[in-house]
Amino acid sequence: MKKVIEIRNLRYVYPDGTEALSQINLKISKGEAVALVGPNGAGKTTLLLHLNGILNGEGEVKILGLPITKENLREIRSKVGLVFQDPDDQLFLATVFDDVAFGPLNLGLPTEEVRERVKKALDEVGMLEAVSKSAHHLSFGEKKRVAIATVLSMNSEILAFDEPTSNLDPRSRRHLIEILKTFPQTKIFATHDINFAWEVCHRAIILDGGKIVADGPVKKIFTDQELLERHGLELPSRVSTNLLT
Ligand SMILES: Nc1ncnc2c1ncn2[C@@H]1O[C@H](COP(=O)(O)OP(=O)(O)O)[C@@H](O)[C@H]1O
Ligand SMILES: [Mg+2]
Repeated sequence: MKKVIEIRNLRYVYPDGTEALSQINLKISKGEAVALVGPNGAGKTTLLLHLNGILNGEGEVKILGLPITKENLREIRSKVGLVFQDPDDQLFLATVFDDVAFGPLNLGLPTEEVRERVKKALDEVGMLEAVSKSAHHLSFGEKKRVAIATVLSMNSEILAFDEPTSNLDPRSRRHLIEILKTFPQTKIFATHDINFAWEVCHRAIILDGGKIVADGPVKKIFTDQELLERHGLELPSRVSTNLLT
């Protein structure tokens, strides 16, 4: 299977001396849906920020065979769409249209194609009706969906999401899960929502203390109570309910 992400011996130390990642070795194939789970401070966000060169650690990160270098940065950023934890970090223009059009316009695409892409992206997340609104006036769940549309409009092959379900009410969470399940792209979700990961992903990677401590099929990793508890995680509710019956 074609490897779309290859990470070798990645280590990252923040300027204050915090070693947030070390000995990270990871390969992800085209079309995989991967949950990157672990307690707070495990290094999940730091790892995602390496996928499109926002952070640059020691070691090697290759996207679609391309090493992340200054020369490749523009191309890599069009291949990897990163959805931040806080949609307010992603939406900053006057209207939803402008926010979703921003990336494609920067690629230099013709206006008609940009318009088409914006429409398609907003439609995919069920937010087409909000196209002329300001993101400030949307609910948190709606903002999350528009933030996702800003990366869909780039037609990125790889989508990385930081805590996609955090702060969502049950209905918005359910709505988002159903949308994400339909995306055919390679997907990586940094999350501590094990129930979400159980439902949407087939592979789980546990990160703790900046290191990968487990990597395998969701059904295997998320039924290993001892492993999960050792790393500050809990069994998915479906699994724990089954254990009781
Ligand atoms: N800007 C920063 N400066 C210094 N340390 C940081 C910074 N951001 C995160 N860290 C530290 O790096 C480690 C990993 O953080 P992070 O990647 O945010 O973890 P997670 O997303 O799994 O909660 C933590 O120890 C955190 O305190
Ligand atoms: Mg984080």
